[in-house]
Amino acid sequence: MKKLNLFNHTLPVTPLGNGGKITIMKKFPYLLLIAAVFACKNKPSADATATFSIQETAIGKIDTSAVTEYTISNPSGMKVSILNYGGTVTKIITKDKAGNDGDVVLGYDSLAGNLQKGNPYFGVLVGRYANRIAKGKFTLDGKTYQLATNNGPNALHGGLKGFDKVIWTVEKLAGDSSLQLTYKSKDGEEGYPGNVTATVVYSLSSANELKIDYKATTDKSTPVNLTNHCYFNLSAGTDSTISGHELFIQADKYTPVDTTLIPTGKIETVKGTPFDFTTPKLIGKDLGSVKGGYDHNWVLNRTSTGLEKISTVYHAASGRFMEVFTTEPGIQFYSGNFLDGTLTNTKGGKKYIQHAALCLETQHFPDSPNEPSFPNTILKPGETYTHTTVYKFSVK
Ligand code: BGC
Repeated sequence: MKKLNLFNHTLPVTPLGNGGKITIMKKFPYLLLIAAVFACKNKPSADATATFSIQETAIGKIDTSAVTEYTISNPSGMKVSILNYGGTVTKIITKDKAGNDGDVVLGYDSLAGNLQKGNPYFGVLVGRYANRIAKGKFTLDGKTYQLATNNGPNALHGGLKGFDKVIWTVEKLAGDSSLQLTYKSKDGEEGYPGNVTATVVYSLSSANELKIDYKATTDKSTPVNLTNHCYFNLSAGTDSTISGHELFIQADKYTPVDTTLIPTGKIETVKGTPFDFTTPKLIGKDLGSVKGGYDHNWVLNRTSTGLEKISTVYHAASGRFMEVFTTEPGIQFYSGNFLDGTLTNTKGGKKYIQHAALCLETQHFPDSPNEPSFPNTILKPGETYTHTTVYKFSVK
């Protein structure tokens, strides 16, 4: 008979087989306890950081700056790729219900795609002020500021060269599951006052959550509204539009807009309108009855200032399900209305036609600097802007 040495107790063990095990357990019941402790110690932890990794790929240059794509992988095989240029999310690879990998965001096969004129902000970080400011003008502490008007009469997404078109400094954080991106925006840049330091941390969890933590500080009062501009299509290339995606938005109200997409200042109920997504609804159901398509800010029903689940998207054929959690007061649901199939260098040469994808941009309301009744977007010296959003992927 073999001997098993357990913490200095030499015990008799019958050779292999279940019977032997039962015999030992009957004879020495305290072994059960030892076995349980041992099993707990060796249970893989939910955050098995050992199997996270970050891979770096050089994809080109802008002037003298190297452009690098960082790919974070988690233990279950989800991957998120991010550029130092614009903090752009270029790929999100998640599994469908059959276990097949697919890329659920629109993007390009080469840097030339990202740099083309008219790139509609695929995957980028948007700042200093995401969304529109009417006529590119606002008054702060008695001074009127004029920004470039790059969207009809209005300023959109931070200006001609917003945070989406600059090189961010990237640092890999310990654990190989997070990247920290920093950009220092100068006083007067794009017409905005104050030196602003923006820090964004992209983290991938073992539960398939892409978390985006935003922070900003300033040395002069300035509007700040940061977001990410991923274009999602959960079919991963199978469906040419998102009409068959089912969307839920936890919002009883939205901010109606004028013909230039500036909020009128009113806050209206979604009940009985195409804007009602309070119970999950196929996007295609009412899309045709919204002139130009959805491109509006929903006023989220919130119960706290913390992270709350406020939206879900479901694509039944693939089973892919995305949940959105945020700390922000609003979400811009944009149904890819201006995509028209003309972008070049797209992934696999695909034509990104109208409604090919949807954006769920968690943010403050558009034109807040000119709407005193909207939640405040002015960051003052000594304060820190914070915002967290999580996109969580699973299958049903
Ligand atoms: C805006 C759209 C715009 C798109 C791309 C969205 O955030 O609301 O009007 O076309 O970004 O720029």
